[in-house]
Amino acid sequence: MTAKKVVVTGAAQGLGLACAERFHADGAEVVLVDIDEARLAQEAERLGARATPLVSDLARMDAASAEALIAAAEVAMGGIDVLINNAGVIHQADFVDFPEEAFDRTLAVNLKAPFLLGQAAARAMIAAGKGGAIINMSSVNAELAIPNAVAYACSKGGMKQLTAVMAVGLIRHGIRVNAIGPGTIATDMVSRSVAQSDEARRTILSRTPAGRMGEPSEIASVAAFLASDDASYIVGQTIYPDGGRMILNYTMPVEE
Ligand SMILES: NC(=O)c1ccc[n+]([C@@H]2O[C@H](COP(=O)([O-])OP(=O)(O)OC[C@H]3O[C@@H](n4cnc5c(N)ncnc54)[C@H](O)[C@@H]3O)[C@@H](O)[C@H]2O)c1
Repeated sequence: MTAKKVVVTGAAQGLGLACAERFHADGAEVVLVDIDEARLAQEAERLGARATPLVSDLARMDAASAEALIAAAEVAMGGIDVLINNAGVIHQADFVDFPEEAFDRTLAVNLKAPFLLGQAAARAMIAAGKGGAIINMSSVNAELAIPNAVAYACSKGGMKQLTAVMAVGLIRHGIRVNAIGPGTIATDMVSRSVAQSDEARRTILSRTPAGRMGEPSEIASVAAFLASDDASYIVGQTIYPDGGRMILNYTMPVEE
Protein backbone atom coordinates (compact mmCIF):
# COMPACT_ATOMS: atom_id res chain seq x y z
CA MET A 1 0.00 0.00 0.00
CA THR A 2 1.23 3.54 -0.73
CA ALA A 3 2.04 5.84 2.19
CA LYS A 4 -0.96 7.60 3.73
CA LYS A 5 -1.43 11.33 3.21
CA VAL A 6 -2.59 12.80 6.50
CA VAL A 7 -3.74 16.27 7.65
CA VAL A 8 -3.65 16.95 11.40
CA THR A 9 -4.99 20.18 12.92
CA GLY A 10 -3.65 21.57 16.19
CA ALA A 11 -0.42 19.75 15.41
CA ALA A 12 2.14 22.12 16.96
CA GLN A 13 1.90 20.39 20.35
CA GLY A 14 -0.05 17.95 22.51
CA LEU A 15 -2.30 15.30 21.00
CA GLY A 16 -2.11 16.71 17.47
CA LEU A 17 1.67 16.61 17.48
CA ALA A 18 1.60 13.07 18.90
CA CYS A 19 -0.72 12.01 16.06
CA ALA A 20 1.50 13.69 13.46
CA GLU A 21 4.57 11.98 14.94
CA ARG A 22 2.87 8.57 14.97
CA PHE A 23 1.62 8.71 11.37
CA HIS A 24 4.96 10.11 10.22
CA ALA A 25 6.84 7.31 12.01
CA ASP A 26 4.52 4.83 10.26
CA GLY A 27 5.68 6.25 6.90
CA ALA A 28 2.90 8.76 6.18
CA GLU A 29 3.15 12.15 4.53
CA VAL A 30 1.82 14.65 7.04
CA VAL A 31 0.50 18.21 6.82
CA LEU A 32 0.57 19.86 10.23
CA VAL A 33 -1.92 22.71 10.72
CA ASP A 34 -1.80 25.18 13.62
CA ILE A 35 -2.12 28.85 14.55
CA ASP A 36 1.22 28.79 16.43
CA GLU A 37 3.52 29.53 13.49
CA ALA A 38 6.87 29.33 15.30
CA ARG A 39 6.20 26.08 17.11
CA LEU A 40 4.63 24.54 14.01
CA ALA A 41 7.66 25.37 11.86
CA GLN A 42 9.98 23.96 14.52
CA GLU A 43 8.09 20.66 14.85
CA ALA A 44 7.67 20.19 11.09
CA GLU A 45 11.37 20.81 10.63
CA ARG A 46 12.19 18.31 13.39
CA LEU A 47 10.08 15.66 11.63
CA GLY A 48 11.91 16.49 8.39
CA ALA A 49 10.98 14.99 5.03
CA ARG A 50 7.28 14.18 4.48
CA ALA A 51 6.13 16.90 6.96
CA THR A 52 4.64 20.21 5.80
CA PRO A 53 3.50 23.05 8.12
CA LEU A 54 0.38 25.05 7.19
CA VAL A 55 -0.50 28.04 9.37
CA SER A 56 -4.22 28.63 9.86
CA ASP A 57 -6.48 30.22 12.49
CA LEU A 58 -9.39 27.79 12.77
CA ALA A 59 -11.37 30.29 14.86
CA ARG A 60 -11.81 32.36 11.69
CA MET A 61 -12.40 29.51 9.29
CA ASP A 62 -15.14 29.76 6.67
CA ALA A 63 -16.04 27.45 3.80
CA ALA A 64 -13.64 29.16 1.38
CA SER A 65 -10.64 29.00 3.75
CA ALA A 66 -11.41 25.35 4.57
CA GLU A 67 -11.43 24.51 0.84
CA ALA A 68 -8.18 26.45 0.41
CA LEU A 69 -6.50 24.65 3.29
CA ILE A 70 -7.44 21.18 2.01
CA ALA A 71 -6.39 22.18 -1.52
CA ALA A 72 -3.00 23.34 -0.20
CA ALA A 73 -2.61 20.05 1.68
CA GLU A 74 -3.42 18.11 -1.48
CA VAL A 75 -0.80 20.07 -3.41
CA ALA A 76 1.79 19.42 -0.66
CA MET A 77 1.13 15.66 -0.49
CA GLY A 78 -0.44 14.80 -3.84
CA GLY A 79 -3.79 13.94 -2.22
CA ILE A 80 -5.45 13.36 1.15
CA ASP A 81 -6.39 10.02 2.77
CA VAL A 82 -6.86 11.00 6.40
CA LEU A 83 -8.08 14.14 8.20
CA ILE A 84 -7.62 14.43 11.94
CA ASN A 85 -9.74 17.29 13.31
CA ASN A 86 -7.79 17.67 16.53
CA ALA A 87 -7.36 21.40 17.30
CA GLY A 88 -9.38 22.49 20.30
CA VAL A 89 -9.61 25.15 22.98
CA ILE A 90 -11.19 25.30 26.42
CA HIS A 91 -12.37 28.34 28.38
CA GLN A 92 -13.29 28.03 32.03
CA ALA A 93 -15.78 30.25 33.86
CA ASP A 94 -18.87 29.78 36.00
CA PHE A 95 -21.95 29.19 33.89
CA VAL A 96 -23.60 32.47 34.89
CA ASP A 97 -20.46 34.46 34.03
CA PHE A 98 -19.44 32.58 30.89
CA PRO A 99 -18.56 35.20 28.21
CA GLU A 100 -20.44 35.13 24.91
CA GLU A 101 -17.20 35.70 22.99
CA ALA A 102 -15.60 32.62 24.61
CA PHE A 103 -18.67 30.53 23.75
CA ASP A 104 -18.54 31.60 20.09
CA ARG A 105 -14.78 31.11 19.82
CA THR A 106 -14.85 27.64 21.40
CA LEU A 107 -17.64 26.48 19.11
CA ALA A 108 -15.82 27.97 16.09
CA VAL A 109 -12.55 26.12 16.74
CA ASN A 110 -13.90 22.90 18.26
CA LEU A 111 -17.00 22.29 16.12
CA LYS A 112 -17.43 24.60 13.12
CA ALA A 113 -13.88 24.18 11.79
CA PRO A 114 -14.11 20.36 11.97
CA PHE A 115 -17.44 20.58 10.10
CA LEU A 116 -15.98 22.79 7.35
CA LEU A 117 -12.72 20.86 7.06
CA GLY A 118 -14.65 17.59 7.12
CA GLN A 119 -16.78 18.83 4.20
CA ALA A 120 -13.76 20.01 2.21
CA ALA A 121 -11.74 16.85 2.89
CA ALA A 122 -14.71 14.62 2.06
CA ARG A 123 -15.20 16.43 -1.27
CA ALA A 124 -11.52 15.88 -2.11
CA MET A 125 -11.70 12.20 -1.08
CA ILE A 126 -14.89 11.64 -3.12
CA ALA A 127 -13.28 13.27 -6.17
CA ALA A 128 -10.21 11.01 -5.81
CA GLY A 129 -12.49 7.96 -5.48
CA LYS A 130 -10.25 6.05 -3.04
CA GLY A 131 -12.19 6.51 0.19
CA GLY A 132 -10.46 7.70 3.33
CA ALA A 133 -10.76 8.25 7.06
CA ILE A 134 -11.77 11.27 9.11
CA ILE A 135 -11.07 11.28 12.84
CA ASN A 136 -12.54 13.93 15.14
CA MET A 137 -10.91 14.60 18.52
CA SER A 138 -13.80 14.65 20.97
CA SER A 139 -13.55 14.15 24.76
CA VAL A 140 -15.20 12.34 27.64
CA ASN A 141 -16.99 15.70 27.90
CA ALA A 142 -19.08 14.61 24.91
CA GLU A 143 -20.96 12.70 27.63
CA LEU A 144 -19.78 14.04 31.00
CA ALA A 145 -20.33 17.53 32.38
CA ILE A 146 -17.89 19.82 34.14
CA PRO A 147 -19.61 22.87 35.62
CA ASN A 148 -17.24 25.61 34.43
CA ALA A 149 -16.69 24.63 30.79
CA VAL A 150 -20.09 24.93 29.14
CA ALA A 151 -18.83 25.80 25.65
CA TYR A 152 -16.24 23.00 25.66
CA ALA A 153 -18.80 20.39 26.74
CA CYS A 154 -21.32 21.64 24.14
CA SER A 155 -18.66 21.52 21.42
CA LYS A 156 -17.68 17.96 22.26
CA GLY A 157 -21.29 16.82 22.60
CA GLY A 158 -21.87 18.37 19.17
CA MET A 159 -18.82 16.59 17.81
CA LYS A 160 -20.33 13.25 18.76
CA GLN A 161 -23.28 13.98 16.47
CA LEU A 162 -21.11 15.63 13.82
CA THR A 163 -19.15 12.38 13.72
CA ALA A 164 -22.29 10.25 13.51
CA VAL A 165 -23.91 12.34 10.76
CA MET A 166 -20.72 12.57 8.71
CA ALA A 167 -20.21 8.82 9.12
CA VAL A 168 -23.62 7.80 7.82
CA GLY A 169 -23.40 10.33 5.00
CA LEU A 170 -19.92 9.42 3.83
CA ILE A 171 -19.61 5.65 4.30
CA ARG A 172 -21.11 5.02 0.86
CA HIS A 173 -18.04 6.76 -0.54
CA GLY A 174 -15.73 4.50 1.45
CA ILE A 175 -14.94 7.30 3.90
CA ARG A 176 -15.01 6.14 7.52
CA VAL A 177 -15.62 8.82 10.14
CA ASN A 178 -15.00 8.17 13.83
CA ALA A 179 -14.07 10.13 16.93
CA ILE A 180 -11.70 9.72 19.86
CA GLY A 181 -12.88 10.87 23.30
CA PRO A 182 -9.80 11.05 25.55
CA GLY A 183 -9.99 11.22 29.33
CA THR A 184 -7.28 13.35 30.94
CA ILE A 185 -4.05 13.26 28.95
CA ALA A 186 -0.86 15.03 30.05
CA THR A 187 -0.71 18.02 27.69
CA ASP A 188 -0.40 21.81 28.00
CA MET A 189 -4.18 22.16 27.76
CA VAL A 190 -4.61 20.03 30.86
CA SER A 191 -1.85 21.68 32.93
CA ARG A 192 -3.29 25.11 31.99
CA SER A 193 -6.90 24.20 32.80
CA VAL A 194 -8.27 21.24 34.75
CA ALA A 195 -5.00 20.18 36.46
CA GLN A 196 -3.55 23.50 37.60
CA SER A 197 -3.17 22.56 41.29
CA ASP A 198 -2.37 19.41 43.29
CA GLU A 199 -5.94 19.41 44.53
CA ALA A 200 -7.27 19.53 40.95
CA ARG A 201 -4.90 16.70 40.00
CA ARG A 202 -6.19 14.59 42.90
CA THR A 203 -9.76 15.27 41.79
CA ILE A 204 -8.91 13.99 38.31
CA LEU A 205 -7.20 10.86 39.64
CA SER A 206 -10.15 10.19 41.96
CA ARG A 207 -12.15 9.77 38.73
CA THR A 208 -9.48 7.73 36.90
CA PRO A 209 -9.37 3.99 37.67
CA ALA A 210 -6.06 3.62 35.79
CA GLY A 211 -4.49 5.79 38.52
CA ARG A 212 -2.62 8.09 36.14
CA MET A 213 -3.17 10.53 33.32
CA GLY A 214 -2.79 9.21 29.79
CA GLU A 215 0.14 9.92 27.50
CA PRO A 216 -0.38 11.63 24.12
CA SER A 217 1.05 8.54 22.37
CA GLU A 218 -1.83 6.51 23.86
CA ILE A 219 -4.25 8.69 21.88
CA ALA A 220 -2.13 8.70 18.72
CA SER A 221 -2.19 4.90 18.69
CA VAL A 222 -6.00 4.94 18.67
CA ALA A 223 -5.93 7.41 15.76
CA ALA A 224 -3.51 5.12 13.88
CA PHE A 225 -5.85 2.18 14.45
CA LEU A 226 -8.99 4.08 13.41
CA ALA A 227 -7.27 5.22 10.18
CA SER A 228 -6.12 1.69 9.36
CA ASP A 229 -7.86 -1.19 7.60
CA ASP A 230 -7.90 -2.98 10.99
CA ALA A 231 -10.79 -0.61 11.82
CA SER A 232 -12.58 -1.23 8.50
CA TYR A 233 -15.97 -1.98 10.12
CA ILE A 234 -15.88 0.82 12.74
CA VAL A 235 -18.15 3.60 11.52
CA GLY A 236 -19.43 6.65 13.39
CA GLN A 237 -18.16 5.62 16.82
CA THR A 238 -16.62 7.73 19.54
CA ILE A 239 -13.93 5.59 21.19
CA TYR A 240 -12.97 6.56 24.77
CA PRO A 241 -9.33 6.02 25.79
CA ASP A 242 -9.95 7.36 29.29
CA GLY A 243 -8.28 5.06 31.84
CA GLY A 244 -11.75 3.82 32.86
CA ARG A 245 -13.40 7.16 33.67
CA MET A 246 -16.62 6.71 31.72
CA ILE A 247 -17.47 3.40 33.39
CA LEU A 248 -16.71 4.53 36.94
CA ASN A 249 -19.73 4.99 39.16
CA TYR A 250 -17.84 6.17 42.22
CA THR A 251 -14.49 7.75 43.13
CA MET A 252 -11.10 6.08 43.50
CA PRO A 253 -8.80 6.33 46.54
CA VAL A 254 -5.89 8.68 45.74
CA GLU A 255 -2.55 8.74 47.56
CA GLU A 256 -1.72 12.13 49.14
N1 LIG B 1 -5.42 16.72 26.80
C1 LIG B 1 -6.56 16.14 27.19
O1 LIG B 1 -6.68 15.63 28.31
C2 LIG B 1 -7.74 16.10 26.26
C3 LIG B 1 -8.85 15.36 26.69
C4 LIG B 1 -9.95 15.27 25.86
C5 LIG B 1 -9.94 15.89 24.63
N2 LIG B 1 -8.85 16.60 24.24
C6 LIG B 1 -8.91 17.26 22.93
O2 LIG B 1 -7.75 16.96 22.19
C7 LIG B 1 -7.44 18.06 21.33
C8 LIG B 1 -6.01 18.49 21.55
O3 LIG B 1 -5.86 18.85 22.91
P1 LIG B 1 -4.42 19.08 23.59
O4 LIG B 1 -4.54 18.64 24.99
O5 LIG B 1 -3.35 18.52 22.73
O6 LIG B 1 -4.40 20.70 23.58
P2 LIG B 1 -3.18 21.73 23.46
O7 LIG B 1 -3.71 23.03 23.98
O8 LIG B 1 -1.95 21.16 24.11
O9 LIG B 1 -2.93 21.82 21.89
C9 LIG B 1 -3.92 22.35 21.05
C10 LIG B 1 -3.29 22.82 19.75
O10 LIG B 1 -4.33 23.43 18.97
C11 LIG B 1 -3.85 24.66 18.47
N3 LIG B 1 -4.93 25.62 18.27
C12 LIG B 1 -5.68 26.23 19.23
N4 LIG B 1 -6.50 27.12 18.68
C13 LIG B 1 -6.27 27.09 17.34
C14 LIG B 1 -6.80 27.83 16.24
N5 LIG B 1 -7.70 28.80 16.41
N6 LIG B 1 -6.35 27.53 15.00
C15 LIG B 1 -5.40 26.58 14.81
N7 LIG B 1 -4.86 25.87 15.82
C16 LIG B 1 -5.28 26.14 17.08
C17 LIG B 1 -2.89 25.17 19.54
O11 LIG B 1 -1.98 26.15 19.03
C18 LIG B 1 -2.20 23.88 19.96
O12 LIG B 1 -1.07 23.59 19.19
C19 LIG B 1 -8.48 19.14 21.64
O13 LIG B 1 -9.55 19.07 20.71
C20 LIG B 1 -8.95 18.77 23.02
O14 LIG B 1 -10.25 19.24 23.28
C21 LIG B 1 -7.75 16.73 25.03
